[in-house]
Amino acid sequence: MTLMTMFTTLLLVLAAHLDAVLSLSTLKLSGPANLPNDASHALQPSLASFSIETGFFETFFGNATAPNQLSLNLLENLKARTGVPAEIRIGGITADSTYWDPGQKVALFNFIDSTGALRNTTLGPQFWKSVGLLPTDTKIVMNLDLHNLNYTGAFDMAKAALQGLPSGQLSAFEIGNEPDHYLSFTPQSYTSIWETWAKNISQSLHLQTPSFRVAATVEDPIWPYDTPGASSALDCVSALAAGSNKDHVVNSCSEHTYQYSVCDPPRTAVATLPNLVNHTRLAMYLDLWQPRIKSVRQQLGDHAFNIGEYNSVSCSGKDGVSNTFGQALWLLDTTLYAASLNVSRQAIWSGSLQTDWK
Ligand SMILES: *[C@@H]1O[C@H](CO)[C@@H](O)[C@H](O)[C@H]1NC(C)=O
Ligand SMILES: *[C@@H]1O[C@H](CO)[C@@H](O)[C@H](O)[C@H]1NC(C)=O
Ligand SMILES: *[C@@H]1O[C@H](CO)[C@@H](O)[C@H](O)[C@H]1NC(C)=O
Ligand SMILES: *[C@@H]1O[C@H](CO)[C@@H](O)[C@H](O)[C@H]1NC(C)=O
Ligand SMILES: *[C@@H]1O[C@H](CO)[C@@H](O)[C@H](O)[C@H]1NC(C)=O
Ligand SMILES: *[C@@H]1O[C@H](CO)[C@@H](O)[C@H](O)[C@H]1NC(C)=O
Repeated sequence: MTLMTMFTTLLLVLAAHLDAVLSLSTLKLSGPANLPNDASHALQPSLASFSIETGFFETFFGNATAPNQLSLNLLENLKARTGVPAEIRIGGITADSTYWDPGQKVALFNFIDSTGALRNTTLGPQFWKSVGLLPTDTKIVMNLDLHNLNYTGAFDMAKAALQGLPSGQLSAFEIGNEPDHYLSFTPQSYTSIWETWAKNISQSLHLQTPSFRVAATVEDPIWPYDTPGASSALDCVSALAAGSNKDHVVNSCSEHTYQYSVCDPPRTAVATLPNLVNHTRLAMYLDLWQPRIKSVRQQLGDHAFNIGEYNSVSCSGKDGVSNTFGQALWLLDTTLYAASLNVSRQAIWSGSLQTDWK
């Protein structure tokens, strides 16, 4: 895909985020007739992808009897301009409390307790019909539950997804969301479980090709890279070094990047609009991943490093920062800068129950 189509793509993504009325049919771009000598190497056309929280899949897309046409149109428009549909990762924090129930009548059920908290999510056979609303040929990454350490549960979900989706639609399974935040995993203890599960699922379901995306971790790399402890963090590279691909089950890896956060006061203080739109800060942040991107591409191939979730301000955004035009500029800049570092796909994560596209 050329940078121009990429730019058009991103405008669409921005439109989705800004709620803006942007008349794309009248957008005219001018540029050189031939690729300039300093053009980048070929980019993965599904660079601008999406991560949809499992428990809120229907909040975004609806279901077969009540589809969300706005969301579906946005994805169709993206597909029309890039030539391929955006990849959709069904996952996130709710994936670690999502269970398969073959007898459930509704597609998706969220167990909300009396305090309003979401306790868990169950999916039934109709769920795959909801997924079927996505543009034809949409690739799906399905995030399985690792946190409960229940292999049978993860296996049942993997099997249901494989049987419920058209052949070839699944591009990868992930096992666990942000496992660097639970069970005190080290690269070794994570890998000993993750690798066994990935191998067993591959064998039991007769998966012919490597089908797992490893890591899905969220902690930023410690800087500088040679700081003691920097290499003991759980991430794509340390999981591979610990043997997660010793049985050739890994097709790619993913890490999450949230440049700012309002999860705690020190980080809230720097989550400002001037910082958000500062390109130097943005580049310094994504540059932290350069050694990992290089290593993963060497080990798994050119399109193996994915940002499986990202957005500007974690813990649900910040008023006056993540709901501004500056956010749109940040999104465009982040996507193109990450592409320049050889990140292949970036799945923007856009919240949960109350937020959806807005
Ligand atoms: C589809 O969504 C509608 C509206 O939320 C809901 O009433 C219905 O039960 C859902 N159907 C299935 C099969 O989940
Ligand atoms: C979901 O959570 C509720 C409340 O804790 C519990 O009663 C129910 O068994 C859970 N569902 C599953 C499938 O684990
Ligand atoms: C593990 O998952 C299976 C399949 O969903 C379920 O039947 C079983 O109760 C789960 N075990 C535990 C300890 O939750
Ligand atoms: C993986 O498969 C092997 C061989 O079938 C079995 O012995 C082992 O218990 C399985 N591991 C898990 C975590 O289910
Ligand atoms: C942008 O961030 C860099 C690095 O922190 C800083 O040196 C620079 O002063 C900032 N620029 C502006 C305009 O604030
Ligand atoms: C990105 O990949 C290309 C081709 O594989 C390589 O020439 C380039 O140096 C890489 N860029 C970075 C920043 O590593």
